[in-house]
Amino acid sequence: MSAPILLDLYCCQGGASRGYADAGWSPVGIDIDPQPRYPFPFHQGDAIEAMATLVRGDSLPFVDPDGQVQHLWLSDITAAHASPPCQARTKAQKIRGNEHPNLIAPTRDLLIKAGLPYVIENVVPENADTDPDPLIDPMMLCGAMFGIETYRHRLFETNFEVEAPEHPVHIFRNTKMGRRPVEGEFMHIVGNFTDPERARRIMSMPWASRDGLREAIPPVYAEHIGRRMLAHVEAVAA
Ligand SMILES: C[S@@+](CC[C@H](N)C(=O)[O-])C[C@H]1O[C@@H](n2cnc3c(N)ncnc32)[C@H](O)[C@@H]1O
Repeated sequence: MSAPILLDLYCCQGGASRGYADAGWSPVGIDIDPQPRYPFPFHQGDAIEAMATLVRGDSLPFVDPDGQVQHLWLSDITAAHASPPCQARTKAQKIRGNEHPNLIAPTRDLLIKAGLPYVIENVVPENADTDPDPLIDPMMLCGAMFGIETYRHRLFETNFEVEAPEHPVHIFRNTKMGRRPVEGEFMHIVGNFTDPERARRIMSMPWASRDGLREAIPPVYAEHIGRRMLAHVEAVAA
């Protein structure tokens, strides 16, 4: 039996997609920018418009890494993951002429309309009390839960049950920006970080550029959620 299809909205270079593939899914990605390093079938376009197209009952074209075009309908898709960019960095504002569009709520609305099991991921907001576009009851994942040398906290909203592994106490220091890492330090993969080769190793993303690494969730986070989501889908189908 072929792997069920998972739509990866706002896929960038595919950190999340890689993890879902490791969990047994067949990812297809959507991003507003061309993503030549993305290693799975890809549709370039606005994620909200693409989801609306599928929900309306129309198909979307995806291009395989080998250049073949396939058309997918909503009924071909079993689940979805979405990583809307944090608001200050979004490019959708250019499209919609909007200063700071909130992408999480409209993405959630479409995922619910589509009737899919879904995951929405985002960074931890600086001030959760004043966040204009919050995740609902999110779970937090940390690299230390998976034995990788970066803390990289990320929040995940899901519409199925999934638990975070136990959160170890942070005992390692982050390497200071611009310095070479000292043995035993963890890596903070943000901004203009040094040593992308080490970041590729830590994240298990050997195909990714510095930009792709900075944006990505470690594939192991998506693998953890993806395994649980697959079990959920199989239990519902049984
Ligand atoms: C935080 S990154 C996603 C990282 C990805 N989950 C990973 O693990 O590699 C957000 C991505 O959203 C894309 N993006 C921004 N606005 C978008 C929109 N309206 N529709 C689709 N993609 C968009 C950006 O180009 C960027 O690649």
